[in-house]
Amino acid sequence: MRDVWNTRALIESDKKHLWHPFTPMRDWCAQDHAPLILVAGQGAWLEDSEGRRYLDGNSSIWTNIHGHAHPKINRAIQDQLERVAHVSFLGTTNPQAIELASRLAGFFPEGTLEKVFLSDDGCTAVEAAMKMAVQFWQMEGHPNRSRFIAFENAYHGDTLGAASLGGIGAFHRSVAGHQFPVTRITSPEELDTVQGFHHGDVAAVVIEPLIQGAACMRTWPSGMLRKLRQKCDEAGVFLILDEVMTGFGRTGTMFACQQEDVIPDFLCLAKGLTGGYVPLAATLTTARVFDAFLGDVEEGKTFYYGHSYSGNPVGCAAALASLDVFRDECVLENLPPKISRLSELLVEIAKAPGIYETRQCGLIAGIEVRRRNGEAFPWMWRVGAKICLAARRHGILTRPVLDTIVFMPPLCVTVEEVEAGLQAIRAATQEVLMQVDP
Ligand SMILES: Cc1ncc(COP(=O)(O)O)c(C=O)c1O
Repeated sequence: MRDVWNTRALIESDKKHLWHPFTPMRDWCAQDHAPLILVAGQGAWLEDSEGRRYLDGNSSIWTNIHGHAHPKINRAIQDQLERVAHVSFLGTTNPQAIELASRLAGFFPEGTLEKVFLSDDGCTAVEAAMKMAVQFWQMEGHPNRSRFIAFENAYHGDTLGAASLGGIGAFHRSVAGHQFPVTRITSPEELDTVQGFHHGDVAAVVIEPLIQGAACMRTWPSGMLRKLRQKCDEAGVFLILDEVMTGFGRTGTMFACQQEDVIPDFLCLAKGLTGGYVPLAATLTTARVFDAFLGDVEEGKTFYYGHSYSGNPVGCAAALASLDVFRDECVLENLPPKISRLSELLVEIAKAPGIYETRQCGLIAGIEVRRRNGEAFPWMWRVGAKICLAARRHGILTRPVLDTIVFMPPLCVTVEEVEAGLQAIRAATQEVLMQVDP
C-alpha cells in the first residue's frame, strides 16, 4: 500500500523551518510556490507525495548511478546497519573501508593511484587533495608552492578551499579574499605564460576532465587532458582531477581520465561512489605523495585532516555494492546504445527553434536555449528554470545550469526512457520559448 502524505502541511512546515541549498528563499517561500515533495524512487523514476511519477533526468543532482531502490545496494546498506552504522576512522578501521580502498585502487595500474583517503562529499574530496598537495610541497622543502591553477568557469564545491578553485562568479563572490591563491586559465597552452608554473610557486593544476558540469556542461577538446598531463609533468606540478561528476560511468568509461590514458596525482571521487545512495568521497593518490607524510610524530608530517564520518561503513558498503552492480549487470558494456541514441536525439532536438547548442559527453547532455537571434536571454528571466518547471508536467525532473537544460539520467535508464526524457524536454522547451520569445 502506498504511504499517504499530507502535502500541504509538509510544504507549510518546510517553508517555516528549512533553508535549501542554491535556492532563492524568498521565491521558495512565496505563497504560490508549491515545492515537489519526493517520497519514493524505483529505477530511473521518482514519485512525489501526490503519487505523480517523474523520470530522474539529472540523477538526483548527478549522484544516482544504478537507479533508486536497487535491491543489491539496499540490501548492502541494511546488512551493514545490522552490524554497525558507524565507527570511528580515527585510530580504528573497518572491513568495508578496507575492501573499498583496495577495489578503487584496483581500477588503476599497479604502483599508481594506490592510496585512498576517505571523506564525505565532493568538496571534501577536492579539499583533501589540495591540502595534501600544499603540505607535500612544504615537507619537500618548497613551502612557497601553494598556488593552484584552475580553469575559467570551474566548479569544485563550496567549502572554502574547494570554492577557491571555482571560477563561477555568482557562486564564489561572497567568499572572495578568504581563499587559496589561484590563477585561472582557459587552456593547457596558457600554462606556458603563467609565471612560476615551471618550478615556481604552483602546487597543482585542477580540472574537471572531459566536461565542466556547472559551466553549462562544456566539453573539452579531445586530447586536451593528455596535453595537460604532459605540461604538468614537464613543470613538475601535480595534476588533480575532479571526477566528482564524471566518475562511475557517466562519460561512458568508469572514469573520464581513462579515455585519454591519463593518471593524475590526485583523483577526487564522490557523488556516484555509493551509487548515489549515501554521502561518501574518496581522494586517491600515489605512494610518492603518501610516503612524504611518513615520519616521526615530532616531524609534523601527519595529515591533520578528517571528519567525524570519515570511512563510514554504511557508505563503504553501499559503494562496494555499487561496484558489484557495475560488474554483475555489465553496466558499462550496456551504455553504448543508450549513448548513441542520446546523440541521435540531440542532433534532432538541435534543429528545433530556440535550441542554440547541444553538448554531450557519454550519458551527460546539456541543451542550451537562446533567443531565435542567437542572443542569450537575460539571466534574470530564468528561462532554463521555467523550462525545467514545465518539464515536470511532461514527466521529467531536472535542473538547468542557467539556460542549459541538463539531461543526465541514471545509467540504468533504458533507450525508451532516454527517448521519453528528450521528448519531454523538447515539449517543455517549445512551450516556454513560445511564451518568452514568440
Ligand atoms: C565537478 C564537481 N566537483 C565537486 C562538486 C562538489 O560536490 P559536493 O556537492 O558533493 O560537495 C561538484 C558538485 O556538483 C562537482 O560537480
